[in-house]
Amino acid sequence: MDISSIDYSKFREILERQSGILLGDNKQYLVVSRLANFIKEHNVASLTELIDKIAIPSGASLLQKVIDRMTTNETLWFRDQYPFDFMKNAIIPALKKKGRSRIWCAACSSGQEPYSLSMLLHETMAQNSIEVLASDLSLKVLDKAKQGIYQDIELKRGMPKDRLNKFFTHIDDDNWQVNSAIRANVRYQPINLLKIPYTQGKFDVIFCRNVLIYFSQENKTKVLNALYNSLQPGGYLFLGASESLTRDCNPLEMVRCNPGLVYQKSE
Ligand SMILES: C[S@@+](CC[C@H](N)C(=O)[O-])C[C@H]1O[C@@H](n2cnc3c(N)ncnc32)[C@H](O)[C@@H]1O
Repeated sequence: MDISSIDYSKFREILERQSGILLGDNKQYLVVSRLANFIKEHNVASLTELIDKIAIPSGASLLQKVIDRMTTNETLWFRDQYPFDFMKNAIIPALKKKGRSRIWCAACSSGQEPYSLSMLLHETMAQNSIEVLASDLSLKVLDKAKQGIYQDIELKRGMPKDRLNKFFTHIDDDNWQVNSAIRANVRYQPINLLKIPYTQGKFDVIFCRNVLIYFSQENKTKVLNALYNSLQPGGYLFLGASESLTRDCNPLEMVRCNPGLVYQKSE
């Protein structure tokens, strides 16, 4: 399957407008590899026809499925470790003193990040006062996250044996399910970072990790400002280890957590 330069530029424009995901100039192969089978499965004659269908309002559900295919959902348990150490040693003790608090995992993929946080809340006896909202643009990963079922190969990516035994139930050969007590602390909701609803209120901590790398500077700034508005005064924002604030976004103070850093909104 080939993709013409006209189709590629139309597709890039739709994908970026709807999701923020920016495809580089030479990423035609990515579109072809992720959508070739999808086109066959959905009885669409060609990529040109698919693009025409998702460009109009009646193609909204097809567009959602295309976006599901185009997102990169790479994730792991306790990713990078330092955000979880800083949560455990500094942030959670302060939130416990404060009382009812909220954490938002704003691009949670298949659930490893919010469940890692929920496990930490249980280990620090903070599960009754701190709740986790977990969201993503992809409905496919949210469905998997809600089920909380993971294969051995996914658990090998960061889940230590003692936590596996404590927080999971072995349901068959290869599959383990996160225990209901850990799942109960996490509420899932589809949220597009480009359209963050004001109605969801403010959070004490936001994890928005390893997603802004896919966005343009302009969209990064837009999202960072929306996240700033969603933070309580004194609240913390964790970005991915290779991500940082943009020049034009609202100011957040950099706090070193050795290794790594976290951003804090002034009181
Ligand atoms: C690489 S994963 C990162 C998952 C997790 N935060 C971590 O660091 O392990 C990026 C996630 O961002 C989601 N995503 C991409 N664009 C988004 C958008 N506009 N709004 C919300 N989520 C988005 C993708 O669906 C994907 O699950």
